[in-house]
Amino acid sequence: MWSRLLPLCTVLLLCYGKRTTATTTVDWWESATLYQIYPRSFMDSNGDGVGDLNGIASRLEYLKELGVTATWLSPIFKSPMADFGYDISNFTEVDPIFGTMADFDALITKAHQLGLKIILDFVPNHSSDECEWFQKSVRREDGYDDFYVWEDGKIDAQTGERMPPSNWVSVFSGSMWTWNEQRQQYFLHQFLPKQPDLNFRNQMVREHMRGVLKFWSDRGVDGFRIDAVPHIGEKRYANGTYPDEPSSGWSDDPSSYNYHEHIYTKDQPLTLEVVYEWRQFFDEYKRQNGVDTIALLAEAYSSVEVLSDYINNGTHSGTQIPMNFNLMSLIGYSTAKNVEDLVKGWMDTIWPRHQTANWVLGNHDSARLANRVGREKVDLMTMLVHALPGTSVTYYGEEIGMSNVATEYTPVSCDDRDPERTPMQWDTTAHAGFTTGSTTWLPVSVDYEQLNVATERSVARSHLNIFKGMTKLKQTLAFKAFKDENGFSFGAVLPQVFQVVRTAAKQEEYRILINMGNKIEYLYGLANQTMVYVLLSQFSPHSYGEKVDLSKRLYMMPYEAVVLRWSTDGD
Ligand code: GLC
Repeated sequence: MWSRLLPLCTVLLLCYGKRTTATTTVDWWESATLYQIYPRSFMDSNGDGVGDLNGIASRLEYLKELGVTATWLSPIFKSPMADFGYDISNFTEVDPIFGTMADFDALITKAHQLGLKIILDFVPNHSSDECEWFQKSVRREDGYDDFYVWEDGKIDAQTGERMPPSNWVSVFSGSMWTWNEQRQQYFLHQFLPKQPDLNFRNQMVREHMRGVLKFWSDRGVDGFRIDAVPHIGEKRYANGTYPDEPSSGWSDDPSSYNYHEHIYTKDQPLTLEVVYEWRQFFDEYKRQNGVDTIALLAEAYSSVEVLSDYINNGTHSGTQIPMNFNLMSLIGYSTAKNVEDLVKGWMDTIWPRHQTANWVLGNHDSARLANRVGREKVDLMTMLVHALPGTSVTYYGEEIGMSNVATEYTPVSCDDRDPERTPMQWDTTAHAGFTTGSTTWLPVSVDYEQLNVATERSVARSHLNIFKGMTKLKQTLAFKAFKDENGFSFGAVLPQVFQVVRTAAKQEEYRILINMGNKIEYLYGLANQTMVYVLLSQFSPHSYGEKVDLSKRLYMMPYEAVVLRWSTDGD
């Protein structure tokens, strides 16, 4: 029955393609391959079992080999590591565990020589409680009194006991307010109590944070991933009180973050104001210094409507890349139809307004891709995110199919997100080539002898080679010209087969077909075209260079994904 519906699906797909605009200018970040490095875990150069900047520098050629445009480094700044660097005690110093400022300068110089861009993590919402600014604020030192969000709290009329100013619950559970004995007030923390929130109503805080951005931009940084954007501002009434949040109905546990609907602690107007200010700062910085665009990525788990405003609200511009986490909800049972809905979730709202797209498949806060969708679908997902128009964002190790590692809590590692943060698997030597030392801060996965860079380089259809094949395709005219009329189309051509078509005006066309299911699928009369297989997933019975007449029958094996090409040069 589905085969009879095919022509209709094809028509719908083509209509979708027509919605693109005819602009052709593509800035470096718009169709980029971005790669996230978790510095503790990428490469250790000094044998202490923790990754560092010199280690990253020694592996930049690998990023080149991968076809990466820019790499985003999770925080490298001075930190007591309560949240592994997302608790910063000095925003303009490198933590000694990662190296020195000279190491950073050398890293950026080498990256630029290789044509790679460096994106740093910018964590504006909070500092560490060990940051000098917080210490000064606790002591109410001049200029710092109001640097963080302080409040007396409420007095319970019946018991006379002091209570937090509002019922807000922190992202990591428990009250968002912690009492400080010394200052005799509560301070706000959207995350850990060791991560007090900076007060963005205070102009001096804004100035300090702009100073931080300038400091790193002057050292040659090409972009910033802004951490925890939606959490920057909170609602406060004119009389200085903070309104309680209503229950969401999603949890029975009042200490869980899911217990409330976050209408006063997420995506507040103050947050947008601050994001627009940063963009203005960088537009001005670019004008004054004649540098390439400094791209802003925003970590924002918010609705597409809100993300749209983070890009531009019609009056102000904000972040170029509000990260799109939609595809991270895919699981083993997800169908092509599910993929279509998720892709449309972005394309229907953001694309018509901004002609921009990005696709994130993993990060240091979520289980590894192989654990979420199953190993047999890792390559399918790699092909999907690189096939779609715009920018792909890959978490280190996903390109070789790394999986979660069962970890035990130790004094050094004590986070339920440890399993997805284990050392990069480079080769078959001890500790997967991550360190020359005797231990690693988190255990190396037991599968490293099969899943590692060196081994996968020589396996024709390894995760790594499929990844590299796709990043190469991203360099072609058809993939680059994603803003052209009819430049792309996508959709589920069968309930289990997802298709993306990328076209460069009558010269070159690629069709990416992905069978998400565990059954053989048949496609009849997909197009009046003969195409050639140019990239094949592990489960494909086809061979490179084989031709297929799409006006006839095409079959796809379970979990097979392929890239087909047609061009006027006759290949
Ligand atoms: C972001 C980071 C996460 C961190 C949190 C607090 O969500 O990705 O790792 O714990 O912010 O900074």
